[in-house]
Amino acid sequence: MKITGFENNIPESEITPKSVYLDRRKFMQQAVASSLLLSVDVMLPAWAKQWPDLKSSPYSTADSVNSFEDITTYNNFYEFGTGKKDPYKNATQFNPKPWSIKVEGECEKPGTFDLEDFINPATLEERIYRLRCVEGWSMVIPWVGFSLADMLKKFEPHSKAKYVEFTTLLDKSRMPGQQRRVLRWPYVEALRIDEAMNELPIMAVGLYGDILPNQNGAPIRLVVPWKYGFKSIKSIVKIRFTEKQPQTTWNQTSAKEYGFYSNVNPTVDHPRWSQKKERVIGLPFWKPKRDTEMFNGYSKQVAHLYKGMDLKKHF
Ligand code: MTE
Repeated sequence: MKITGFENNIPESEITPKSVYLDRRKFMQQAVASSLLLSVDVMLPAWAKQWPDLKSSPYSTADSVNSFEDITTYNNFYEFGTGKKDPYKNATQFNPKPWSIKVEGECEKPGTFDLEDFINPATLEERIYRLRCVEGWSMVIPWVGFSLADMLKKFEPHSKAKYVEFTTLLDKSRMPGQQRRVLRWPYVEALRIDEAMNELPIMAVGLYGDILPNQNGAPIRLVVPWKYGFKSIKSIVKIRFTEKQPQTTWNQTSAKEYGFYSNVNPTVDHPRWSQKKERVIGLPFWKPKRDTEMFNGYSKQVAHLYKGMDLKKHF
């Protein structure tokens, strides 16, 4: 099954064509294989050798993917600076190992888990999703990840768990952007429990068939494809099940501009700009913008979650 509603309107010459991407993936797989063979790349995690067998997700868009360079050099990750190139430059020294995630709140099985406890190579898959940033640009990223819902179910949330809150690492020495008060740290995001239990959100641990680059949220981040990019929180260290709607970073910073829901919605403008169109990263600036799609093209999977809600009010 292929998800419909995505038009491939980007000329192949301008965004990485699938054949080149597949070649690149093959090359990376071979590089991984040969580095294992030569035992030179001791930094590769034990499960990396499983990745050549990644299954493709039926939820992937068929759009052409952005280049590895676009995806890793044009980022938002305020913990490493507010400029688009800052995370690429400033996150090189960040060491995301070892990493653990604390799970707490309204659930039967809370605890602190090593990253490796979360990753089962058998359930890892490639999901190609368009990331639509609230700022008005988008790119298409071949993530490697696993279902958020499947992971959350393992902690047996109580019926009182109405929301799930995610928190990024707080460590000024490792995340130098946190030395400036541009946001209230740590970065926090949240979903309603039924949103979190939908089949679309993933916990991403890689992209382009390899482990997640630091600037993209190493070692583990959320990806919620029908919401503006800021909901997809990076470098997660805590997951909390709550009864009340959590306070989230961007909503706290400017509630008028960044709603709790932040579903991609071309009919609700940001107070300072239209959301009807988006600039596709990787295309020359003079190329026409792309029409933004309701729920980023995933209406079929998620529109029912908001039945009866006024999405102009709950933007
Ligand atoms: N997560 C944290 N912890 N800090 C951030 O600044 N930026 C968000 C989101 N997750 C951000 C974050 C925003 S605004 C976007 S658009 C996406 O990450 C960008 O993800 P990418 O850089 O991997 O494309």
